[in-house]
Amino acid sequence: MKLFLDSAKLEEIKYAIEKWHIDGITTNPRHLFAANMTVERFAEEIKRIVEGTDISVSLEVNPHLKTADEIVEEARRLAYLSPNFVIKVPATEIGFEALARLAKQGVKVNMTLIFTPFQALQAARLGAHYISVFVGWKEERGDFDAELVSKVVKIVKNYNFSSKVLVAAIRSAKHIVDAALAGADIVTASWEVYKRCFENPYTQMGLDIFCDAWDELYKKGGS
Ligand code: E4P
Repeated sequence: MKLFLDSAKLEEIKYAIEKWHIDGITTNPRHLFAANMTVERFAEEIKRIVEGTDISVSLEVNPHLKTADEIVEEARRLAYLSPNFVIKVPATEIGFEALARLAKQGVKVNMTLIFTPFQALQAARLGAHYISVFVGWKEERGDFDAELVSKVVKIVKNYNFSSKVLVAAIRSAKHIVDAALAGADIVTASWEVYKRCFENPYTQMGLDIFCDAWDELYKKGGS
């Protein structure tokens, strides 16, 4: 399973690529706001960072767009900036219409804001490159479907669709492991979530025990 970083902060992205060997980046307008960068400026910066690698970068179209024509135009403009770019399109009726046209034109689409197996089925049928299933938002609102990701994975497998299942809005190591157990292809999580996942109190406790033993051994002059 691949691990993507959900962020538009360049320092976080460089850290995650270098130290965690992250496979891809996803962004959204909220991340751009947090990084204080327009999508154009972010595209320019990230393009340089991932050039010559196979690190995939998902960029979202303007959420205000009201027609499939507008989405197609903006998606094409962004997609042609780099072969690494995958364009996030929301799972609305016009979003699906745009997806069908973009997929035929060879533009890779990350169908985002997917909350039901039906939306995932439609995204897969129409040729989405990634299907972004949001788990955290539902759970935070008391509407968690523990089977959602496995249902989406099953639908994609049943019909041999080429789409990759990407689990998004990840909040914990448990979400990542659940996604892996369900057979998802990718998860995307924030820098903070990964950082927490790499910390384990038992590993630290074990290291402290071994440090003490090591020090005692040399103090008593072991040979
Ligand atoms: C996924 O691609 C989204 O950018 C992301 O997971 C949104 O959720 P969050 O910002 O609440 O984690």
